[in-house]
Amino acid sequence: MSADTTLFPMAYFRKQIVPVHEATVSIACQSLQYGLTCFAGIRGYVHEGKYQIFRLKDHFNRLKTGAAIMDMPFSMSWEEFLDITQQLTRANAPQSDFYIRAFQFTENPGLGPSFLNKEFDLAIYMLELRRYYEMSKGLRLMISTWRKFPDYVMPSKAKGGGCYLNSALATTEARKAGYDEALLMDEQGSVVEASVANMFITYRGEVITPELGEPILDGITRRTVIELLEEAGIKMHFGRIDRSMLYSCDELLLTGTAAQVVYAHSVDGRVIGSGDRPGPICQLLRTKYADIVSGIHPKSSEWFVSFGSSSR
Ligand SMILES: Cc1ncc(COP(=O)(O)O)c(C=O)c1O
Repeated sequence: MSADTTLFPMAYFRKQIVPVHEATVSIACQSLQYGLTCFAGIRGYVHEGKYQIFRLKDHFNRLKTGAAIMDMPFSMSWEEFLDITQQLTRANAPQSDFYIRAFQFTENPGLGPSFLNKEFDLAIYMLELRRYYEMSKGLRLMISTWRKFPDYVMPSKAKGGGCYLNSALATTEARKAGYDEALLMDEQGSVVEASVANMFITYRGEVITPELGEPILDGITRRTVIELLEEAGIKMHFGRIDRSMLYSCDELLLTGTAAQVVYAHSVDGRVIGSGDRPGPICQLLRTKYADIVSGIHPKSSEWFVSFGSSSR
């Protein structure tokens, strides 16, 4: 159930496009030792001979904001980022869906983790992205014994590399126990998100998702889904979701750049809705996503950066 991925041959590293195997850092650098990175995970599609990158500027802005939350220097402008991303995509010439990982890192080798007096640079590499989860069946989820860190411990709105130890622990526990993925509770016992995805449930005819003030990532797929639900006139609200609500909801969806929209078959062995079939909200969202990708949704042109294989 993990990403079926292959690296593309070229990367952006130390201000140049180079073969990805040459884009290497010292084993002593603080980004490796302490997880001092801030990253973005962005999805691209190949549609009718064009590359289409989804909500690139929103990803750039979240990356920049994430760096600011951590007090990490960040110097790249949107215009530079857009240009480099397009150049790199053309150099790699993907034939199908692709994933762009852009991240801030430092090569500083010193002891003592901090964001002070260090140079941070932006690097980008790309992966083929065929599927993250098996989309044709529902996920078997487990509520992890690991809790999501509160924002006063580590920032939930920045994709800081070190923060993903939390996700790795929860996913490892779930997979070892035979589940596909982990859900995490916050300190109060509300279930807030999955290890790398946001969460929506349908409960008594309403769609509910945790509010932004809870320790969740401000997911770009979450924002998209909220807009799509509003557009469809579906009643929704932001609020706390406890364990009993999860066990008795009609539909449970996970949303994320890699996963897009996936539904849960069960949580801790309790079957959700019809189990092996996507529910009506999942079907609606998948149809709307397909419309966005194929350009027939009114938001397609706003949400995609589209370009061809040649720069002219
Ligand atoms: C912890 C966490 N929550 C939610 C998400 C979903 O965010 P997005 O839709 O922007 O990919 C991610 C994505 O990586 C994540 O890492």
